[in-house]
Amino acid sequence: MKNEATVRRTVVVGAGSGIGAATATRFHERGDHVLAVDLRPGDTPAARHAQCDLRDASAIADLLETIDTGWDTLAYVAGVPGTAPAGDVLRVNYLAMRMLSEGMLPRLRHGGSIVIVASTAALGWQLRMADLTGLLEATDAAAVDAWQAGQDPAYPVYSTSKQAAIIYSKRLAGPAWQKFGVRVNTVSPGPTRTPILVDFETSMGKDMLDSVEATVGRHGTVEDVVPVIEFLSSPAAGWVNGQDIHVDGGFIMPLSAGAPIQL
Ligand SMILES: NC(=O)c1ccc[n+]([C@@H]2O[C@H](COP(=O)([O-])OP(=O)(O)OC[C@H]3O[C@@H](n4cnc5c(N)ncnc54)[C@H](O)[C@@H]3O)[C@@H](O)[C@H]2O)c1
Repeated sequence: MKNEATVRRTVVVGAGSGIGAATATRFHERGDHVLAVDLRPGDTPAARHAQCDLRDASAIADLLETIDTGWDTLAYVAGVPGTAPAGDVLRVNYLAMRMLSEGMLPRLRHGGSIVIVASTAALGWQLRMADLTGLLEATDAAAVDAWQAGQDPAYPVYSTSKQAAIIYSKRLAGPAWQKFGVRVNTVSPGPTRTPILVDFETSMGKDMLDSVEATVGRHGTVEDVVPVIEFLSSPAAGWVNGQDIHVDGGFIMPLSAGAPIQL
């Protein structure tokens, strides 16, 4: 049994299912004090559960009111797929993440960290920085909706939301470190066996997902992703800041380096 001074305190957002549930369970089982946040009432193992609709800024503000200081980690894992309305995708995957990250910074201890789950679907985010300027300046739902209304509806909004999450996290990482001593990193899973995968088959296409699976041999599992979240949140990653770590069996990065070496 850990004494109270050594218990690490972790907020897991999106703890009701999939990667978030596995993250909360892992941290709880290793002895952390876990606050598990989700839209649904959860039975994920945790010290405390809070229900919050991340589409609702006032619900996020209410949640933050209940969170004191001295936390070690914010793991923002919640997400919705491209089958959801565009406004929900941008609110949950980007805007709420931004609100909770900024809200948690003064509540995290010096040496703490924020880990955000993005996606390999954000591929090409470097090329979209200019396009996403208005979204990255938007700090409320009305501004996000106004920005989205001017976009090509054919561009996948899920990718947009994850690109914005990665760019925002990288922009936050320097100031968060300098002002609060908090590191900010993202984890980008490839296709991972959780309940959201069926929606991805609809929004991204089953053929595309099958070809990813055929290339790397299998889809990922929560057991592939959680240890990376755990590492980035730990003191062992104390000098790792502003990174995006792909957890995809090596599907994406080899595509960016030219012709594969013939073996
Ligand atoms: N599974 C994959 O293939 C995959 C791949 C890349 C990235 N991701 C990302 O990983 C993260 C976790 O996804 P998952 O695979 O565990 O999916 P999941 O559907 O199992 O879990 C998502 C969680 O987010 C919560 N959530 C959704 N909308 C919410 C809202 N409005 N308010 C509060 N909570 C809300 C859900 O209730 C659920 O518990 C997401 O950000 C997702 O985009 C998943």
